[in-house]
Amino acid sequence: MSGSIPQDFIDEVVARTDLVALIDRRVPLKKAGKDHTARCPFHDEKSPSFTVSADKQFYHCFGCGAHGNAIGFLMAFERLEFRDAVAELASQAGLELPAGGEGPVPRHKELLDVLEAAARFYRQQLGEHPKAIDYLKQRGLGSAVAATFGLGYAPAGWDSLLQHLGRTPEHRPLLLETGLLVAREGSGNGLYDRFRDRIIFPIRDSRGRVIGFGGRIMDQGQPKYLNSPETPLFHKGRELYGLYEARQAQRELPWILVVEGYMDVLMLAEHGITNAVATLGTATTPDHLRRLFRHTTRVVFCFDGDRAGRDAAARALQTSLPEMHDGREVAFLFLPEGEDPDSLVRREGRGAFLVRVGQAQPLSDFLLQRLRDQVDLHTLEGRARLLERARPALRAIPQGAFRALLEQTLARLAGMEHADLMRMEGGKAPSSPPRPRPTVVHPTPVQRLMGLILAHPVAAQWIDPSLLPLLKAGDTEAQWLLALIELARASPHLSGGGLLEGFREHPAEPLFGQLLIWQPERAEEGMARECRDICRHLLQQQARGQIDTLLEKAAVQGLDAAEKEQLRLLLSRRGG
Ligand code: UTP
Ligand code: MN
Repeated sequence: MSGSIPQDFIDEVVARTDLVALIDRRVPLKKAGKDHTARCPFHDEKSPSFTVSADKQFYHCFGCGAHGNAIGFLMAFERLEFRDAVAELASQAGLELPAGGEGPVPRHKELLDVLEAAARFYRQQLGEHPKAIDYLKQRGLGSAVAATFGLGYAPAGWDSLLQHLGRTPEHRPLLLETGLLVAREGSGNGLYDRFRDRIIFPIRDSRGRVIGFGGRIMDQGQPKYLNSPETPLFHKGRELYGLYEARQAQRELPWILVVEGYMDVLMLAEHGITNAVATLGTATTPDHLRRLFRHTTRVVFCFDGDRAGRDAAARALQTSLPEMHDGREVAFLFLPEGEDPDSLVRREGRGAFLVRVGQAQPLSDFLLQRLRDQVDLHTLEGRARLLERARPALRAIPQGAFRALLEQTLARLAGMEHADLMRMEGGKAPSSPPRPRPTVVHPTPVQRLMGLILAHPVAAQWIDPSLLPLLKAGDTEAQWLLALIELARASPHLSGGGLLEGFREHPAEPLFGQLLIWQPERAEEGMARECRDICRHLLQQQARGQIDTLLEKAAVQGLDAAEKEQLRLLLSRRGG
């Protein structure tokens, strides 16, 4: 889903969004002077330090430093990915998302509509088929949870859905593409329903839109579960069943439990454990993990206690290592043989199950246990082998405190000094913590111009044109200023927050963010004067440098005609 969205379109979306209204719908704001404030939604606080500026279309928290524009706010608050945040704002602004790298988007809309219509049909059919309702009841599932997850029933027979939706000719290719209808092989052009006489589990994306289905047979037939095929909208390696519902149940998810099956998620929810998700018959992928860590800091994997479960856990461990940035936790919960979360929570109840989750084995523990396995730590050879086995795992973990602590523990187990181990690895001592965002205390003239433009984008029009070539030849920050001026001139309708959007993931973004906050409120007239003054100052500074160089050269080796003319011009300008 990463087809890139044109910057113009993103700018347009930000420009058409009212940030104050957007935030106010989620975090009620109070007006305070020109700005609006609230208690920060991104950290705990008693007094409001979260500030939203309507002029700058920018929010900032003086407590925790969170800041950004409309897209950034939705990404942080709704935990959306960039593309989804833009899509959300676009739809609110009545704009159609342009085609990305994945085919025409209007088609997506049609597919989503037909999926939603199918989900509605299955839901309604559940109400009309007591045997399906009885099945759910007999499994211990109440109607509230069934409704929350939008469970349904696909009737027996080959063409229930086909009759219901497929009568509209335009629907047929869409239903085929979603896999809800299947083309009969050979004989003519017949179509039939994929899901027949099955309990239906709609699979929703992070915005709650139905993108696929799972279907369970109610008796002993095969296959037990049937799933939608992969489509442009539905990728099993990305989606997690129940994540949307978990987010709806609880805004903050202190931990997320990863289980294997639809019924596990549902039965845990039935017992009040609403933060479980299931992979869709696939192993956990890096995509899954990244997605999980957007919503929580602690992921607990659930596995069978048997051999196959341990092997699956080992694979999940490998996938987790590169995601173990400091502040994140992964743990492994091994269930008694023959149990799954569904059966266990029904037998033991919520409390006992939560105790198990609390006692899940931390990733570090599981890793060390596996590394020590079959290694004799009483011999030198065994200890060397331990370090040898640990090497790939350690390399996979991002630099940070967690990795350093693991190294320390391993060194201790091997009876070696940490520093010796590091030397052996050819590595450096544990890495320094991430650099804090720059704070602007005494802005340079170039930074002051940046700040002026960010606070008041029209200031880009006031920049003396003769400054531009000078910036072009200047240092990094001069280049950034030039890029900012160019963007503000090209898109005069952008607010400061909108300008910042043009620098998402650009090295200038942290500085621009700081300057946007730092810039005090001022009358336009004062800003125009300041802008002119700084430009003049920069030009003079440049001219002085050139004059000095030329004078020096004149003294040492003399000037040619052109240089003499240049010097004359510079000196006369200085006079004027
Ligand atoms: P399980 O066979 O463990 O089923 O499959 P379960 O969750 O315990 O289901 P119940 O309790 O018998 O109803 C776990 C998951 O593996 C996938 C499904 O996603 C299922 O939820 N699966 C299983 C399939 O895709 N196809 C199958 O035939 C079986
Ligand atoms: Mn089960």
